[in-house]
Amino acid sequence: MSAELDTRRFRDAMRRFATGVTIITTRDTEHTPVGLTANSFNSVSLTPPLVLWSLNKHARSLPIFMEAEHYAVSVLCADQMPLAARFASPIDDRFEGVEWHRGPTGVPLFEGCVAWFECASVHRYEGGDHVIFVGEVLNFGHSDKVPLLYAGGAYGVPAAHPALPPSGP
Ligand SMILES: Cc1cc2nc3c(=O)[nH]c(=O)nc-3n(C[C@H](O)[C@H](O)[C@H](O)COP(=O)(O)O)c2cc1C
Repeated sequence: MSAELDTRRFRDAMRRFATGVTIITTRDTEHTPVGLTANSFNSVSLTPPLVLWSLNKHARSLPIFMEAEHYAVSVLCADQMPLAARFASPIDDRFEGVEWHRGPTGVPLFEGCVAWFECASVHRYEGGDHVIFVGEVLNFGHSDKVPLLYAGGAYGVPAAHPALPPSGP
């Protein structure tokens, strides 16, 4: 079997793993906001509070994240699917026309997310064609909105398992 086919099979298998969707943001040395859609986000440790995500070495934002002292993770709600698509697209100014504000460390955060985590960038690890970033959470918050999901290469929304008893009134 060719290496290319193996890579495709590996990606197809990995895509079966359902995740949420985040936008990871920071600012460059001129304070210009930078961000990309990422579903590699996960929790690592409660004490201290650590999270991780990984960034493709070909990403335009790699040099900026390598230098950044802080970044933010905005966990998107179902209504923010267009924002997920926008921050994965090659347009120049992804922040144009988008409502955002700066968190206490100056990194961009979005309005109306499911959760947000403002992090100090504490570790970076080699991860093949990606760099793995570990962040220590400095500030965070959450809402009761419905999260956006990503599975099998498509966006989705959560539904209760049919085997569970109906909830609510
Ligand atoms: C749902 C989804 C999840 C993604 N997750 C990641 C990720 O975890 N890491 C990554 O490097 N790229 C990820 N991408 C691709 C980047 O968003 C995309 O390549 C983006 O254009 C990179 O931006 P940049 O080149 O400006 O840095 C994802 C894209 C989508 C649609």
